[in-house]
Amino acid sequence: MKLLVTGGAGFIGSNFIRLVLSRHDDYQVINLDKLTYAGNLDNLKDIEDDERYRFVRGDICDAEVVDEVMAGVDAVVNFAAESHVDRSIGGPADFIQTDVFGTHVLLEAAKRHRVERFLQISTDEVYGSIEEGSFTEEDRLEPSSPYSASKAGGDMQVMAYHTTFGLPTLITRSSNNFGPYQHPEKLIPLFITNALADRELPLYGDGTNVRDWIYVVDNCEAIDLVLHQGEVGQIYNIGGGNERSNITITRMILELLGKPESLIKRVRDRPGHDFRYSIDCSKLESLGWEPSHSFEDALRETVDWYVNNDWWWRKLRDQEFEEYYRRHYQGS
Ligand code: NAD
Ligand code: TYD
Repeated sequence: MKLLVTGGAGFIGSNFIRLVLSRHDDYQVINLDKLTYAGNLDNLKDIEDDERYRFVRGDICDAEVVDEVMAGVDAVVNFAAESHVDRSIGGPADFIQTDVFGTHVLLEAAKRHRVERFLQISTDEVYGSIEEGSFTEEDRLEPSSPYSASKAGGDMQVMAYHTTFGLPTLITRSSNNFGPYQHPEKLIPLFITNALADRELPLYGDGTNVRDWIYVVDNCEAIDLVLHQGEVGQIYNIGGGNERSNITITRMILELLGKPESLIKRVRDRPGHDFRYSIDCSKLESLGWEPSHSFEDALRETVDWYVNNDWWWRKLRDQEFEEYYRRHYQGS
């Protein structure tokens, strides 16, 4: 099978490419990535010389380059997106451009080239916040942030291409991922790398917001399953079943690193901050999926990975990142 992976130089996409190449000997993978601030070829250093893998630097909004890389492709997995909620609040335009318009460009090319599967990687954030119970794939979309609204817009385009043109589409909506190669702007890597430097951990609001955490490898295994065995036209929720409040996660990180709780700094809350995400994953489980990592073990492994791989994240905490950080958290 010849796979086009977009956004494969990011966190989940790079973990997915690694998994695909280790599981499927006869697969070829093309990775189309724009290399925004979040794209990083260091994420794929261990496989860059694999002859089954090819990297193309390009934008999913560029119809010409998308058309070129789509030729002869059997399946597309679209990870490419602007992905950080806080940045979407500061500047939504890039999110609408990539997450909505970029998805449209990919769909058009997939239709023209008659690809056999088009898998859109989406998020549980499209459903919005839920106080009690869990969202199923049938629930209405009620996104709160410009990020989740853009992802919902992408999903809607994908569904419309299935309904109108019969494009063989699939959508996965996963909960919050964590693991190796996650950019230090996101909660878990930010707090690990801050704590390692004895810097404050900026916890939004009262820290009681809940996320359902999934180890990135478990998500990638689920994506691989849906790609091969999912029913065309369907949506699959992918959750870890590990709902934890942010303060709980923060304390676990500090404990694993042997750092004091005095590093926690309560800061101004995120505007529109969703209180709780929770998804029902029985549809995916009916395909035979269950996560293979326990949350506690996976968090310990993740913390160890950041401790042992400062060559990877120190470069990302550069001057540009520190400026973003100062601007974002100033006055908090
Ligand atoms: P990421 O920000 O780490 O990576 C995104 C990648 O897309 C980067 O390599 C970037 O260079 C690339 N990219 C951005 N704009 C592009 C464009 N216009 N053309 C080509 N490439 C472009 O994101 P991630 O955390 O790996 O998330 C991957 C996907 O999974 C996203 O679609 C995101 O919405 C979704 N998702 C993420 C999570 C999570 O917890 N991280 C949870 C659910 C869903
Ligand atoms: P994040 O990793 O940005 O993922 P998302 O917003 O997509 O769920 O944030 C996870 C949770 O952590 C979210 O409730 C916001 C919170 N958070 C903080 O408290 N402080 C921070 O500095 C960051 C980045 C996030």
